[in-house]
Amino acid sequence: MDKISIKKINYLDTFPVRSSVLRQGKPIETCSFLGDDAVDTTHFGLYIENNIIGVASVFTSNNENFDNKTQLQLRGMAILKEHQNMGFGKLLIEDIFSFIESTQVELLWFNARETAVSFYEKLGCFKKGNSFEIPEIGTHFLMYKYFNI
Ligand SMILES: CC(C)(COP(=O)(O)OP(=O)(O)OC[C@H]1O[C@@H](n2cnc3c(N)ncnc32)[C@H](O)[C@@H]1OP(=O)(O)O)[C@@H](O)C(=O)NCCC(=O)NCCS
Repeated sequence: MDKISIKKINYLDTFPVRSSVLRQGKPIETCSFLGDDAVDTTHFGLYIENNIIGVASVFTSNNENFDNKTQLQLRGMAILKEHQNMGFGKLLIEDIFSFIESTQVELLWFNARETAVSFYEKLGCFKKGNSFEIPEIGTHFLMYKYFNI
């Protein structure tokens, strides 16, 4: 059986998966997010043996739609196409939920692609408000999950 592991990684290691899944056909610079190299940003990689097949990152960032003092933003959640719908996304996000439970953070929020909303709802996240457009990427919903309260 192939060994599956989830590790904290450097932001540069997220780029191949971000590029292939989230920024297909776009320059590699578009894979860089503001705050990627901040000390309070954490990047996660899901590996099969030594191959990275999934990534996601959490940034310290407060969203004005919520009044919790301690908030994290989830960004860049992606599983390589050939590995999607096999349970890896769920594994990765549950690992991130455990990480957040080990902190004082009260809220995780993120802008979810319309096509991924049901994935997040199955994992206990909720939509807030109406859909909105992110230029060149598409329709999104603000989503959230509470922790430690
Ligand atoms: C969305 C994504 C991260 C989900 O990861 P995944 O490994 O494919 O999902 P899983 O196999 O772990 O699915 C877990 C559950 O969610 C469901 N699911 C997965 N993707 C879904 C989707 N797009 N819409 C609805 N349900 C979905 C699965 O059927 C499964 O349901 P089950 O537990 O009842 O069997 C992944 O498909 C992906 O990278 N998609 C393209 C990029 C993207 O949209 N990223 C999110 C940006 S906000």
